[in-house]
Amino acid sequence: MILVLDFGSQYNQLITRRIREHGVYSELHSRQITAETVRQINPKGIILSGGPHSVYDDNSFRCDPDIFELGIPILGICYGMQLMALQFDGEVAKATNREYGKAVMDLQQDPLLFKDTPNKQTVWMSHGDKVMKAPGSFQIDATSPSTPIAAMSDQDRKLYGVQFHPEVRHSEYGHQLLKHFVYDVCGCQGDWTIENFIEMEVDDIRSKVGDRKVLCALSGGVDSSVVAALIHKAIGKQLTCIFVDHGLLRKNEADEVTKTFVDDFDMNFIKIDAADRFLSKLKHVDDPEQKRKIIGNEFIYVFDDEAAKLTDIDFLAQGTLYTDIIESGTETAQTIKSHHNVGGLPDNMQFELIEPLNTLFKDEVRELGLQLGLPESIVWRQPFPGPGLAIRVLGEVTEEKLAIVRESDAILREEIAAAGLDRDIWQYFTVLPDIRSVGVMGDARTYDYTIGIRAVTSVDGMTSDWARIPWDVLEKISTRLVNDVEHINRVVYDVTSKPPATIEWE
Ligand code: XMP
Repeated sequence: MILVLDFGSQYNQLITRRIREHGVYSELHSRQITAETVRQINPKGIILSGGPHSVYDDNSFRCDPDIFELGIPILGICYGMQLMALQFDGEVAKATNREYGKAVMDLQQDPLLFKDTPNKQTVWMSHGDKVMKAPGSFQIDATSPSTPIAAMSDQDRKLYGVQFHPEVRHSEYGHQLLKHFVYDVCGCQGDWTIENFIEMEVDDIRSKVGDRKVLCALSGGVDSSVVAALIHKAIGKQLTCIFVDHGLLRKNEADEVTKTFVDDFDMNFIKIDAADRFLSKLKHVDDPEQKRKIIGNEFIYVFDDEAAKLTDIDFLAQGTLYTDIIESGTETAQTIKSHHNVGGLPDNMQFELIEPLNTLFKDEVRELGLQLGLPESIVWRQPFPGPGLAIRVLGEVTEEKLAIVRESDAILREEIAAAGLDRDIWQYFTVLPDIRSVGVMGDARTYDYTIGIRAVTSVDGMTSDWARIPWDVLEKISTRLVNDVEHINRVVYDVTSKPPATIEWE
């Protein structure tokens, strides 16, 4: 295991990710971890991440200095290197301006980290302060025009520092550098795979749960589905899943989820058909926030009612991911977002939590889902909001409007998949604004609904751009929507990014 200590760099998750790509398990921890805890975790190596601060700032981030004395190999990146320099009596110059972008670096020495890479290489710099004098026991391994010490090492003590960011793809040989650190310096084997993650987790879940029972709120989304499949592999019928069909799901979605978990996995599966209950609560409501609140609350009531009937449950399983924990849990993280799960579960439930995905990234969760036998339609499902189609029917939600949005969404999905774009576009759906306009079909006048297409590219949903769908694909979608969905006579394409718009229309 490689421990990455978080000094607040925007790239800190990426370091962990890159190490795992080399088949070595890695975790990001707070810089406040004590040397004693590190000793207990017993990692094969430590990476000190970069960070936005100057080592000279008041309250600048430090770590327990005894960590440097544990005899564990350490790689300091950017701020991490500066910290290492200060720790061992080197000199760090306070920045007068920042260096940001590509730089060409010259190798002076050939330590393990740069094995088999050229003497001149492009690296990605993003720093203010820089190390001006390496500590006595360190040698200078590389320089760049503006950074006299771009890399340094004390090979006897296995301490390495690089001023650039090897985790970023713009650093040409950064990938190799991290590989040399974890394999050659730290002696890792590179045998961490999703298969042995499954074995480890299954053992863990079995010993934690024993002969007791687990409840899982299944939404049909990737995370809750993978959690259910993993726990089911570990404890079979001791797991019960509750799936609330609020009538606001996409076409065939409830059937697909039911088929997968009942027919293919043979799970204890409780499906609650609550469509009428939700629709009646939504009657005459047209305010978006009120709609969301009603749906969120109703979800809790329905789930609560059902869970209360199961008297012998001890654990609640949740699909919390590693990124959820990092983003809401470390004090140094730069982006904080609120995570809305399956409608939010009751606070007063007296369950112990099981969160077996909380060390995984999204793409690892997808790979895990495939290994566990989940279908691609679930594993590659695009994000879908808890309030479902209700926030894609603007204004009051009615059966008729839901049917229009459901049918049009199904056609859009078919055509996007047929054009081979379904993995490129992050999220795509139709919305029904409360607009009717005049058209002509055959020889007759129509006065019917306009449907909007929303398709965006994004990394995490926090910002997005509208997807450049080829004209001919849009044309085909438009023709099908008007011909195949009753009550649509006009199609518009949303060409707004987020910000200023949001992805959903409500
Ligand atoms: P917005 O519309 O805020 O959406 O730009 C960003 C992403 O979040 C999804 N979304 C939700 N997901 N519960 C969820 O689980 C919600 O209440 C919710 N609202 C929006 C949205 O689909 C997009 O992917």
